[in-house]
Amino acid sequence: MEPRIEYAAEADGPGLANVNIISFRHQGFLQNVFPEASPEALAAYKAIYSMKHLANPEMHVLKLVDPASGEIIGYSRWQIPKALVGETLPILSEKAQEAARNFAALAPRPMNEAMYGAFRQLLETSRKRFTTEQDMVLDLLAILPEYQGRGLSSKLLRWGCDQADQFGVRVYLEATGDGYPVYIKYGWKPLEEVSLDWSLYGGQGVDRFTLMMRDPQPVKN
Ligand SMILES: CC(C)(COP(=O)(O)OP(=O)(O)OC[C@H]1O[C@@H](n2cnc3c(N)ncnc32)[C@H](O)[C@@H]1OP(=O)(O)O)[C@@H](O)C(=O)NCCC(=O)NCCS
Repeated sequence: MEPRIEYAAEADGPGLANVNIISFRHQGFLQNVFPEASPEALAAYKAIYSMKHLANPEMHVLKLVDPASGEIIGYSRWQIPKALVGETLPILSEKAQEAARNFAALAPRPMNEAMYGAFRQLLETSRKRFTTEQDMVLDLLAILPEYQGRGLSSKLLRWGCDQADQFGVRVYLEATGDGYPVYIKYGWKPLEEVSLDWSLYGGQGVDRFTLMMRDPQPVKN
C-alpha cells in the first residue's frame, strides 16, 4: 500500500517532531541553538513548537503516513494566502493553543537566543524581499532518511504545486542542499544564495540555503 497524505492534527505533534529532528540532524541549527538539550527534551519542545504551525490559519501541515506502521514518515508545511483557500481550522485543545502561544517559554535551556534570532531574521528578511501577500511559501519539507530516494517527497510536492497552479500563484522556499535538485525538477528557479555562519554566534559550521521561486504552470486537463 502507498503512503497516504493527510492533514496533520494535534496528536501528530510527536510524529512531526521526530521527522523534523531526524531529517535535519545533519544541519547545525538545533544542536547549535540548544547545545545541552537531551534528545527527549528536544523532541518534547519540537512537538510543542509544531502547535504554533497548526494554530496558524494560513499554514497547511500535511503528513505522509506509512499505512503498514501508521508512522509519520514525512511532512510538508505550505503557507497559502487565506484569500485563496480560506483558513485551515484544525481542532486544537486549550493546552495546544496555549503551547502555540507560549512555545518560546517552553524551549530547553540553555538556549542560544542570538543564534535563534539570526536564523529567524535571515528567513524573515529574505521572505520580505522576495515574496508578496499573494505568494505561497513552502515552509518545510522533510522525509525520514530511511524513506528518502523513493519519490515520497514528490507526493507532497505535487499536492502543493497542484494548488499553486490552480490558483495561478508563485511558490517561494529556502532550499537546503538536499532539497535543491528536487525543487529544480519541480520547476523552482534559484533567486539567491544565503548562509549562516554559526561561529559568529558561538556555534560551529555554516548552513547554506538557496532562495527559490516557482512560477505557476499551466494546469493540464
Ligand atoms: C529533500 C528531501 C525532502 C527529498 O525527499 P525524497 O523523498 O528523498 O525525494 P524524492 O525521492 O521524492 O525525490 C523527489 C524527486 O526529485 C528527483 N530527484 C531527487 N534527487 C535528484 C537529483 N539529485 N537530481 C535530479 N532529480 C532528483 C527524484 O527522482 C524524484 O522525482 P520522481 O518522483 O519523479 O522520481 C529529503 O532529502 C529530506 O528530507 N532531506 C532532509 C531535510 C531537508 O533538507 N529538506 C528540504 C528542506 S528545503
